Amino acid sequence: MEIIAIANQKGGVGKTTTAVNLAAALHYIAHKKVLLIDLDAQGNATTGVGVDKNALTYTAADVLIDDVSLAKAITPSSSGIDVVGANRDLAGIDMALAEVEDAPFLLKNAIKKATTKGKMDYDFVVIDCAPSLSILTVNAFCATKGVIIPMQCEYYALEGVVDLIDTIKKLSELNPDLYVRGVVRTLFDGRNTLAQDVSDELEKHFGNLMYQTIIPRNVRLAEAPSFGQSIFGYEKSSKGARAYHQLMNEVLNRIDEPSQSQAQISTAFAW
Ligand SMILES: Nc1ncnc2c1ncn2[C@@H]1O[C@H](COP(=O)(O)OP(=O)(O)O)[C@@H](O)[C@H]1O
Ligand SMILES: [Mg+2]
Repeated sequence: MEIIAIANQKGGVGKTTTAVNLAAALHYIAHKKVLLIDLDAQGNATTGVGVDKNALTYTAADVLIDDVSLAKAITPSSSGIDVVGANRDLAGIDMALAEVEDAPFLLKNAIKKATTKGKMDYDFVVIDCAPSLSILTVNAFCATKGVIIPMQCEYYALEGVVDLIDTIKKLSELNPDLYVRGVVRTLFDGRNTLAQDVSDELEKHFGNLMYQTIIPRNVRLAEAPSFGQSIFGYEKSSKGARAYHQLMNEVLNRIDEPSQSQAQISTAFAW
């Protein structure tokens, strides 16, 4: 089972769009069994696959705070992807977990328990993180080996990433296997020269760690969630669908040949 966390502590950079559509590509195109875990109290990933976040019996919060089994919190969605949903119950979890000793490992332990009991049989788990480096994101980083970082090509793009990389480095004490699968450019507008310049900078900086796929700004990608559908359910011939299909191919290729991207990390992050 491959566990992928989608993280960047900036909001609005395309994390949720990437989580939902990468999960959907793995399901629709590669025919993989996929579980999407929503770790953001906004619940956008949950809504994005057509699940009513306010009608959930159990959410990710129940799994983390109340020790509800992960299997119980899984909701099937009409898109064919299963989801552990989130809603406002997840807000304030930092307080709730302040005194909990193994707080960083709650998700990891929940996944492990469900797997050993044979209640979880997925090829891929995709975790959509909140725009913060809170205990929720730490849980994602401890449960996964590999993080995908979506970045928007704007002037301040690199600023937050320094903190993110710092956190990932620090967390290798808790999770020695943690690595960055890749950085993906999102919401890209090729007519914008600044976006092009920033994109070139990112390429120089991250080298092979950068996915070659660039996710364009595409109105279909923005519309799909309001229909509770991934881009593959909503408009599979759109530019956005093609881009996420291509990204999925790259993600799969790197799983087959991880050494190349892993070797890049130490150099790319020495700044
Ligand atoms: N490639 C894209 N083209 C057009 N709109 C996009 C694209 N990616 C994301 N969006 C829209 O931008 C907003 C922020 O994206 P989202 O994925 O929710 O970011 P995050 O999860 O990082 O906060 C949403 O309204 C989303 O629909
Ligand atoms: Mg989001």
